[in-house]
Amino acid sequence: MLVIVKDSYEQMSKEAARFIADHLRKKPNLVLGLATGSTPLGLYRELGRMHREEGLDFSKVTTFNLDEYVGLPPEHDQSYHYFMQENFFKHINLDHRYVHIPMGMTRDFDAFCAWYEQRIQEFGGIDVQVLGIGGNGHIAFNEPGSSLGSRTRIKTLTGTTRMDNARFFRNSEEVPKFAITMGVGTIMDAKELLLLATSSAKANAIKAAVEGPITAMCPASIIQLHRKAYAFLDKDAAAKLTGLYNDTWESRVF
Ligand code: F6R
Repeated sequence: MLVIVKDSYEQMSKEAARFIADHLRKKPNLVLGLATGSTPLGLYRELGRMHREEGLDFSKVTTFNLDEYVGLPPEHDQSYHYFMQENFFKHINLDHRYVHIPMGMTRDFDAFCAWYEQRIQEFGGIDVQVLGIGGNGHIAFNEPGSSLGSRTRIKTLTGTTRMDNARFFRNSEEVPKFAITMGVGTIMDAKELLLLATSSAKANAIKAAVEGPITAMCPASIIQLHRKAYAFLDKDAAAKLTGLYNDTWESRVF
């Protein structure tokens, strides 16, 4: 894994945007895996700026989001559909026919999840998957204990994750209990992984993911097995790492 540590959240976000822009210029029909949450907001802002000011073109891009709450319609202000629209999609020039976010209102979860997996395949797989990390080491909604080979499916959210997310809802009862999420295996099939983490709140999770044993109790630790995984961190998130990291994603020959 390449670990790239930047002094601030802004610098980390700009570096991650440069990474994606570089891939997009080389492959205009890039298949991008996307995450929600607070961590990628700076990345999305910077990509929006690059589109506006530098003409970065997303018109041929296909996107697949990691997850969505079950039971929230796309127009609900806490749905991930709404989040993506507000924070990223409306600021760039995607072709909306090629935007994919799990459908939390589906009636047939198994059929939907199978279709989502198949759809990823139809587009040749995900080129770059953006990931955040939960304080408990989750990636997407793959909570500790999730199968490291899992595929897209419906998952029950843990109490901790529901509590973490309660701040976005009027009361904790409103926090959905289930989500549709790409599996750990689905994520590992992406050609490159771009894990972002910021702040001391993520330092323990990053320590476990980057330097700990590979275990289902920290699903993010599986990315140590990926051939092209990059962790872009700010220095607070990297504070507990003991390895010496001075990596760069540029001019890397695999
Ligand atoms: C969201 C997702 C989650 C978040 C994680 C970190 O699509 O997949 O795994 O990446 O919960 O969330 P933030 O960035 O809000 O700390």
